[in-house]
Amino acid sequence: MSELQDYSINIKTKSVRETIASGKALGNLLSPGDVVCLTGELGTGKTCFVKGLADGLGIKGRTVTSPTFIIINEYKGKIPLYHIDLYRIGAIDDLRDLGIEEIVYGKGITAIEWADRIKDTLPDERIDITLKWVDNKTRFIEMKAVGRYHREILKKVAKEMQ
Ligand SMILES: Nc1ncnc2c1ncn2[C@@H]1O[C@H](COP(=O)(O)OP(=O)(O)O)[C@@H](O)[C@H]1O
Ligand SMILES: [Mg+2]
Repeated sequence: MSELQDYSINIKTKSVRETIASGKALGNLLSPGDVVCLTGELGTGKTCFVKGLADGLGIKGRTVTSPTFIIINEYKGKIPLYHIDLYRIGAIDDLRDLGIEEIVYGKGITAIEWADRIKDTLPDERIDITLKWVDNKTRFIEMKAVGRYHREILKKVAKEMQ
């Protein structure tokens, strides 16, 4: 019996620039339909990482900001990026109840901040990004391929970030 283990890589970033660079390395390699789920306390760099994703997807001309009041921001690039922030959701904990099921299972790329709030309803195939505060300038970032499809992508990201 062989059960597939989730594959993960760890990166330590020492500046905003490095966190954006790691997001960019991933964004470069994403394909339509990919879902990136970000988890980490406030100020750990989730939004910075999504800026990097947008860079990697060639999105220009609009700054990625935290969609704190509007739950979803859409950025048009070679593949559309849907940036969802669940910080303000209350008791709702289901993709369908939130009305974002069609986006998450659609042909764009979806990046979800505070994804752990809906963890039971996330797609089986996804990339989980967990960010931890180390000190003022340092963040620990784990990127995990959940399911089998994103392992190769993360191997490439690891190579690029060496
Ligand atoms: N290595 C780092 N990576 C990302 N952000 C950092 C880093 N070091 C310091 N910071 C600061 O941490 C904050 C991260 O903000 P943000 O990306 O909005 O976090 P979140 O979306 O997780 O709440 C910013 O104020 C940024 O300047
Ligand atoms: Mg944020």
